Amino acid sequence: MSANRLRIALAKGRLWESAIAHFARAGMAPLSDKGRRLLVPSEDPDIEFLEIKPGDVPIYVESGAADLGITGTDVLREANPDVLEPLEFDFGQCRLVVAAPAGAAYPALPGGITPRLATKYPRLAREHFAGQGRGVEIIEVGGSVEVAPLLGLSHWIVDLVDTGNTLKANGLVEQETILNVRATLIANRASQKLKLGRHLEVMRRLGEG
Ligand code: PRP
Repeated sequence: MSANRLRIALAKGRLWESAIAHFARAGMAPLSDKGRRLLVPSEDPDIEFLEIKPGDVPIYVESGAADLGITGTDVLREANPDVLEPLEFDFGQCRLVVAAPAGAAYPALPGGITPRLATKYPRLAREHFAGQGRGVEIIEVGGSVEVAPLLGLSHWIVDLVDTGNTLKANGLVEQETILNVRATLIANRASQKLKLGRHLEVMRRLGEG
């Protein structure tokens, strides 16, 4: 890449549309007919996008494979990468919560049983309960977490809530908020030093968008 080019890692899924709309308003729209290409050129010749899974954004940016990235603070706090966080966005808002089946005992189970908790966020869940001195057994799953209590895999879950529809449809009730989540811009430390002018320009344009 040329000295001025920035590669920006964007998370597929719920943040993708809002993120590219934001870049489009800032004059950096990705190519619209990208097809299955994962490295996507932008209308700004010095910007290139990388389309990856949300959980992979921190490692690409921390390693320098991407200069910048957009991901949710849920993924960020779970991965805890050594990156800069220069900008928060006004999209991607949701909450990381503890939920339990409607009518179930909470916060303690009868007979002092240690609660089993299914989640994609083992680190954040462990920290939350350890911080309160409450013992839980964490079961890590990759998605569709809300089904775990229905099938007896876990007593509770820790997962994202946006509209609340998924919890409701699976008979679960929100009990505690662990983290308020929003989309965040992250930056590789060395890249920001070496290409400071470009980083500042992109942040200014995004901030105005
Ligand atoms: C997310 C999250 C919840 C759901 C919350 O899942 O994990 O399941 O959205 O949204 P709601 O409160 O508006 O119903 P996602 O669709 O990203 O898929 P996943 O189950 O694979 O994580």
